[in-house]
Amino acid sequence: MSFTVAQLLSQETTIQDVEVKGWVRTFRANRFIALNDGSTINNIQCVVDFENTEESILKRITTGAAVQIKGQLVESQGKGQSLEIQVSSIEILGDSDPDEYPIQPKKHTFEFLRENAHLRTRTNTFSAVMRVKSTLSFAIHNYFTKNGFYNMHTPIITASDAEGAGETFRVTALDPKNLPLTEDGEVDYKEDFFGKETNLTVSGQLEAETYAMALGKVYTFGPTFRAENSNTSRHLAEFWMIEPEVAFMDLAGNMDLAEDFLKSVIRYVLEHNKEDLEFLDKRLADEEKRLPQAERSPMALIDKLKFVVDNNFKRVSYTEAIDILRNSKPNKKKKFKYLIEEWGADLQSEHERFLVEKHFKCPVILFDYPANIKAFYMRLNEDGKTVRAMDVLFPGIGEMVGGSQREERLDVLKEKMAALDIPEEELWWYLDLRKYGTAVHSGFGLGFERLVMFATGMGNIKDVIPYPRTPQNAEF
Ligand code: 4AD
Ligand code: MG
Repeated sequence: MSFTVAQLLSQETTIQDVEVKGWVRTFRANRFIALNDGSTINNIQCVVDFENTEESILKRITTGAAVQIKGQLVESQGKGQSLEIQVSSIEILGDSDPDEYPIQPKKHTFEFLRENAHLRTRTNTFSAVMRVKSTLSFAIHNYFTKNGFYNMHTPIITASDAEGAGETFRVTALDPKNLPLTEDGEVDYKEDFFGKETNLTVSGQLEAETYAMALGKVYTFGPTFRAENSNTSRHLAEFWMIEPEVAFMDLAGNMDLAEDFLKSVIRYVLEHNKEDLEFLDKRLADEEKRLPQAERSPMALIDKLKFVVDNNFKRVSYTEAIDILRNSKPNKKKKFKYLIEEWGADLQSEHERFLVEKHFKCPVILFDYPANIKAFYMRLNEDGKTVRAMDVLFPGIGEMVGGSQREERLDVLKEKMAALDIPEEELWWYLDLRKYGTAVHSGFGLGFERLVMFATGMGNIKDVIPYPRTPQNAEF
């Protein structure tokens, strides 16, 4: 009977005839194969009867080769595993030249593995990350489905820039060089495929709002694209975003939803990916041993995940946060040197990290930001200068979630758009929502890869997505 490695290792009794397929991780002493098939972080040891196996076959049992093994599942005599396979026959399904195979049985740097992103998932770290990621994806759909949300797909090609940051990738069917120019000397996209200028979406929010105002509770889970030229460990040009949007919900409800949602999906991973998390926990601890004490995380990975699940997030207004930053002494090591802030300035990641990692030491929800540093669609507060925005900040990550209560008043929204030069003709359908049955509504966006970074303890966003898209890099 055919099994996965995970199924074999979870057997309570020995079995006469088993069959398993996978990739050889190592082959020791012409006898012991460590076999992995991706179903678990663990390998199964397969013991080859080398005296009765042809030399030509033994030579082809190399790291990276795909093999099919038949044999008996028996209790292991060796240390480190309880069960192993006594091999009765082995078939080489696909050879792997040991001199050329890039993933050698040794520690590789993440830089090297990024250059071999097509093979790096055959390592323990990357396979664990991708299994955790898959679980998180399921947990997210599960959470929203259980809570009465409908999943929707928003367009990837759009004519709007929801965030208004001007960081879009243009989509053209024709080479702009072949398009006519307008009287002002600009490319005239009327002749292009869609008859107008289009780009890849930066967020599905505006379309999600239209559906929330009909279905009540919806969420998107899809790719988004940003041409921000920031080469940091937390930014990708192509990332996946989860965007719930809820009718009749205000900012306080939005914060409750974000907190409950994040705790729920992290709890799910803690319950379902124990072995992977234990491996990643140890990996991080080993890596951090090489860092000076001050740079190490204050908590081990699993403890950190449990802490987030078990403790309330701290809710702080932007204005209170500025006061805290103003009254804090710059740290000697200059890590948080720009602490003095003027009210109205956008927070830099070092400010966010100070608040979360040094001051509150827990996830923080910052809300009521100055209107002029946030997007046009956010609900203006009665003070006339702040908007009902919220950012959820996580230790080691910074901004995990960005969201808001939306401006539901037609006149206020129109004024805001006019002030920002956003033509009403472009968003007539968005304005219609405020004309026909408008209502308080709110939502947020979670950067999926940032959640995966947090849950796996990985330090670079490039290592939690199969094929990262970043400036000057679209290999694979
Ligand atoms: O804060 P952002 O820009 O918010 C929006 O796009 C809203 N329309 C969401 C909404 O209210 N429906 O982005 C949301 C989240 C950020 O908090 C961050 O986690 C992630 O998306 N994010 C990125 N992740 C990776 N690479 C990037 N370049 C990212 N930019 C934003
Ligand atoms: Mg944001």
